[in-house]
Amino acid sequence: MATKDFGAIETDYAFFMSHATEAKSDVEEYARQLNGFADGRSLIHLLDFGCGTGEFSRQLLETLAWPKGALFLTLFEPVDHQQELAARRLSRFSEHAIASLGEASFDKQPVFDVIISNHVLYYAESLSQTIDQLLERLHTEGKMLLAMAGHENALIKLWKVGFDLLEQPLPFYVAEDVAALLVNHDVRVNTSPSHYQLRFPDTEENRWKILRFLFGDYLRQIPRDALLKEFDQYVQEDHIEINTYSEHFTVELNPQTQSSAQ
Ligand SMILES: C[S@@+](CC[C@H](N)C(=O)[O-])C[C@H]1O[C@@H](n2cnc3c(N)ncnc32)[C@H](O)[C@@H]1O
Repeated sequence: MATKDFGAIETDYAFFMSHATEAKSDVEEYARQLNGFADGRSLIHLLDFGCGTGEFSRQLLETLAWPKGALFLTLFEPVDHQQELAARRLSRFSEHAIASLGEASFDKQPVFDVIISNHVLYYAESLSQTIDQLLERLHTEGKMLLAMAGHENALIKLWKVGFDLLEQPLPFYVAEDVAALLVNHDVRVNTSPSHYQLRFPDTEENRWKILRFLFGDYLRQIPRDALLKEFDQYVQEDHIEINTYSEHFTVELNPQTQSSAQ
């Protein structure tokens, strides 16, 4: 599948983040899934896969308030300067050096108690391979938490309109692809919707910011007016207001298989 360079659309993504309640809803849902997780654990290894600038995990770790001595953080982010910023931003939540996924030598592959990948797997080169690799690194009593929007999400519908105009299939994965792949693994999966609102002053430049965040490089090829007018259905006085939802997946390895394999 296609890759997407978030370095090039950094300010557009920041605009989306600051005008949407998505992160707040995602934090609430993860916190609900991780309620009590730290109880009785002296060590928690957490991987944030596709951490961006770490702003999302900052909000999550603030909410979780896990003991700094227990928490070991590992980050993975393809945009180097964003990973560096994330490491600085998250350092106050752990007494230990923040690791990068790429640093571990092959025979010292870390295993994680918690893996978070928040709105990242759309952009995997191979979703199947990425899910396999993440599950290989999940501790037998760990949890993997994934957020992804699916076909019913308003922004995914915008993707569909745009790529239909280009007469090509979606080059990115969606929640339904994650669900279809997880059934092939020996895991327990709990899914729950996370509702959020995107609201911003209705100007052409603001509509364009959301489109740049969504389409990246593809935007140059898509007829501008056709896509801009897709926002008309969401006009509320002088604002655009979109109420929609994403899917959360909480994935745990199947304990029966784990014990019979030992
Ligand atoms: C929508 S942002 C989400 C960032 C962060 N998780 C958050 O919730 O704010 C998607 C992130 O995935 C990263 N990304 C893109 N392709 C990736 C890949 N193949 N593997 C891991 N991360 C990727 C991007 O660089 C970007 O930081």
